[in-house]
Amino acid sequence: MGVEEILSNVPRKSSDKPFSPPTKDIKKDIVENKPNLVLGSREIIDQARKLADSCSNLEELKEIVMNFDQCNLKKTATNTVFSDGNPSAKIMLIGEAPGANEDLTGIPFCGDSGKLLDACLASIGYDRTNLYITNSIFWRPPGNRRPTPDEIAICLPFVEKHIALIKPELLILVGSTAVSAVMNLNEPMSKIRQRFFQYRNQYLESDMNVCAIFHPSYLLRQPSQKKQMWHDLLLIKEFLG
Ligand code: URA
Repeated sequence: MGVEEILSNVPRKSSDKPFSPPTKDIKKDIVENKPNLVLGSREIIDQARKLADSCSNLEELKEIVMNFDQCNLKKTATNTVFSDGNPSAKIMLIGEAPGANEDLTGIPFCGDSGKLLDACLASIGYDRTNLYITNSIFWRPPGNRRPTPDEIAICLPFVEKHIALIKPELLILVGSTAVSAVMNLNEPMSKIRQRFFQYRNQYLESDMNVCAIFHPSYLLRQPSQKKQMWHDLLLIKEFLG
């Protein structure tokens, strides 16, 4: 993944050695043949990557994510929250993770922070008919805790494929968890906002424009920052023309 700112087996003769049973691929066989086995995170991430690699359209990706049972968060979630909005939109927004309302409805950003985000975006002419919205995580973390690095890494292959299938003109990361998940950039929002980066992942053939905005739940806690959000949105509007 790149982010930069504007970011033999030679067969042996049967006489060579006495026969000994092969050991190398046993673990792989177990994993593939026993789907209920408790896997380690690395294996789950590899499984997610293989599944994401296999998707060639949005419907396939959605079905695979909806049926993916290996992320621990799914056990406590009511719904898988995949996306909302227009897949042909110029802008795609990626937030952190579903909260209680999103978990109940299966719709991203439909609670209080979603309402604030909708109002912010409406001020520059965007609503769910001309934007596409999803999250870095597809299931609600219990008690709205922050997703763990493993949970983020497990969802990342699907998120990367999601971005490549939507291929927006501008990808907008909502909050620092999304910035860290998608761009692997761990900087405070104060250093990232108002900048446009070039982003690419393994499914993209060319660079994509990406920027970041404050998470609306931060603005609900710090209403004085809404002014900064307004400046950031105007810049995005100008960028999109
Ligand atoms: N916060 C997020 O980051 N995403 C949602 O869908 C809801 C709240």
